[in-house]
Amino acid sequence: MPPSSLPGRPVHFSHAEMTEVVLPNDANPLGNILGGKVMHLVDVCGAIAAHRHSQSYVVTAAVDHMDFLNPVRVGELIVLKASVNRVFHTSMEVGVKVFSENVLTGERLHTSSAYLTFVALDEYGGRKEIPPVLPETEAEQRRYQQAGERRAARLAFRRSRS
Ligand SMILES: CC(C)(COP(=O)(O)OP(=O)(O)OC[C@H]1O[C@@H](n2cnc3c(N)ncnc32)[C@H](O)[C@@H]1OP(=O)(O)O)[C@@H](O)C(=O)NCCC(=O)NCCS
Repeated sequence: MPPSSLPGRPVHFSHAEMTEVVLPNDANPLGNILGGKVMHLVDVCGAIAAHRHSQSYVVTAAVDHMDFLNPVRVGELIVLKASVNRVFHTSMEVGVKVFSENVLTGERLHTSSAYLTFVALDEYGGRKEIPPVLPETEAEQRRYQQAGERRAARLAFRRSRS
């Protein structure tokens, strides 16, 4: 596919942040948030970043491997930050970082990171070209570069299963 002729958008255009308090209903018997609840929030926060960047409908095409590095306990805050790392053609990689926050001390711990691929769709369900993302800072450029390597691995894995 030829390079996009759409005007690019800086990474901060897509920034999304969500904060929720962890309630007992979302926890296991040890009082830690359920992994499935974290995955749900990651998908929602990632989709907001994808919507903001593409200004279109999006669907989740893939979620890469996720680790849970630290528990988030009942009564703590779960904080999620997402932004678009790189756009390909009709798909884009979004990075989501998850933290726990202790409301009494303000201490934040990194609990998970995830990379999701979203595909932009038009109102008829057809795939839609996405404006390129313009990485500006050193960290954004590094994520852009690494997103290309992750995509190559994802597509190779996809091909190996078909
Ligand atoms: C995602 C979906 C639109 C892809 O459709 P498809 O016919 O496989 O489309 P293509 O093979 O042309 O892929 C479209 C784009 O997605 C990318 N893509 C598709 N599957 C992918 C995967 N598993 N990992 C990474 N990228 C993927 C392709 O590389 C392509 O990217 P590009 O246009 O930027 O080059 C389709 O599979 C779908 O609708 N899935 C269900 C989505 C959904 O409902 N998600 C909610 C959870 S169930």
